[in-house]
Amino acid sequence: MTNFTYSQAALDRLQKTDLDIFNALMNEERRQSEGIELIPSENYCFPEVYALLGSVFNNKYSEGYPGRRYYGGQENTDTIETLARERAKVVFRAEHANVQPLSGCPMNEAVYFALLNPGDTIMGMDLTHGGHLSHGHPVTNMSKIFKFVRYKTEIPSGLIDLNKVRQAALENKPKLIICGHSSYPREYDYAGFRKIADEVGALLMADVSHLGGLIAGGALKNPLDYGFDVVTSTTHKSLRGPRGGIILCKEKFAKAIDKSVFPGMQGGPHMHQIAALAVTLKLVQTNAHKAYAKQVLTNARAFAHGLLESDTPLITGGTENHLIVINVAAGFGITGDIAEKALDRVGITLNKNVIPDDPNPPMKPSGIRFGTPAATARGMKEPEMKQLANVMLQVLRAPDDEALLTKLREETRALCMRFPVPGIES
Ligand SMILES: Cc1ncc(COP(=O)(O)O)c(C=O)c1O
Repeated sequence: MTNFTYSQAALDRLQKTDLDIFNALMNEERRQSEGIELIPSENYCFPEVYALLGSVFNNKYSEGYPGRRYYGGQENTDTIETLARERAKVVFRAEHANVQPLSGCPMNEAVYFALLNPGDTIMGMDLTHGGHLSHGHPVTNMSKIFKFVRYKTEIPSGLIDLNKVRQAALENKPKLIICGHSSYPREYDYAGFRKIADEVGALLMADVSHLGGLIAGGALKNPLDYGFDVVTSTTHKSLRGPRGGIILCKEKFAKAIDKSVFPGMQGGPHMHQIAALAVTLKLVQTNAHKAYAKQVLTNARAFAHGLLESDTPLITGGTENHLIVINVAAGFGITGDIAEKALDRVGITLNKNVIPDDPNPPMKPSGIRFGTPAATARGMKEPEMKQLANVMLQVLRAPDDEALLTKLREETRALCMRFPVPGIES
């Protein structure tokens, strides 16, 4: 098995120089090929991305922005960063784009520092209800600088009640309200959030890290169409690009955002990452990507349907996006860590996950979370989702049945071999 995006000469050299790392690389290629990736924040990137991440752009320091750098030799780096910014503006219908954030957490931190002062109040979704760590969880550094208040989903529906969000906003008077999640299987009411932000005089941000590629492909709503001030997204999830972050904003915030990213938070941007992002932003404008984005949602619904046929307890009762959360404690009498491990044994990778107001601790939570972006990138469709749902149910019902797990491992491997990972040849 080899990844056709690395040159054979470079691989031969790596093998001679460091066999341990070479072997780990080969083993990881095998793991990704022979198993199915269902972690909803992961994906198989476009093969072109590998070519640029392994390129000489890695060598270049480019502190500053196109046309205004602190080092010489920028004729090619200026070209790629300008293309990345312009393409991002087209893809997301944004007035301004900053493509330099090294990843999702620094991207969000840069927004907080650009728009707010220390001590200001930010309102985001509670982590255990689907929000993300970088939206002010008490363990993060940001929680020492800003005051975070949280809105939650309703129990047992698992849905956001906008009246309660409005009430919390009126009580706490946040300067910034964040829409965005990493495990909420429903679409946000962006227009409703805009109304609340207007009523309390808050700025409005959406972190669409999970959804970026689905919005780019026109399968989900774009918060910028609803007057959001800032939208952030990681670039390595449904967008299928390099690891990184992107900040899209109204022109009036452009200067503050740019200054906050550099020199406020970061030094030299990773130009190999920005080059890979530029090509990603070209690829997501194709009809092939539009079809992909639509299929991700169709697959998630098919997967959920396969589970619901057996009365599996899904948080919110289903999905409107790419992800699904099962309450495995309620449905199967096991915790998420046990489910995660047993599914790993059959070649299904997903993650244990807390559920709203989880009575169990984060390392032994009540749920599991998974999604369809990566499986869809392999070309899988509804029949394969049904098959995977069926394998999953068998594992969840009998996580200790060694003979069954061995048999199901073979079934998953056979399925995966029919759908090669983009960029990996077997
Ligand atoms: C909604 C959301 N925001 C931010 C991030 C952080 O991204 P990173 O891990 O690249 O820092 C994630 C990552 O999972 C996410 O889901």
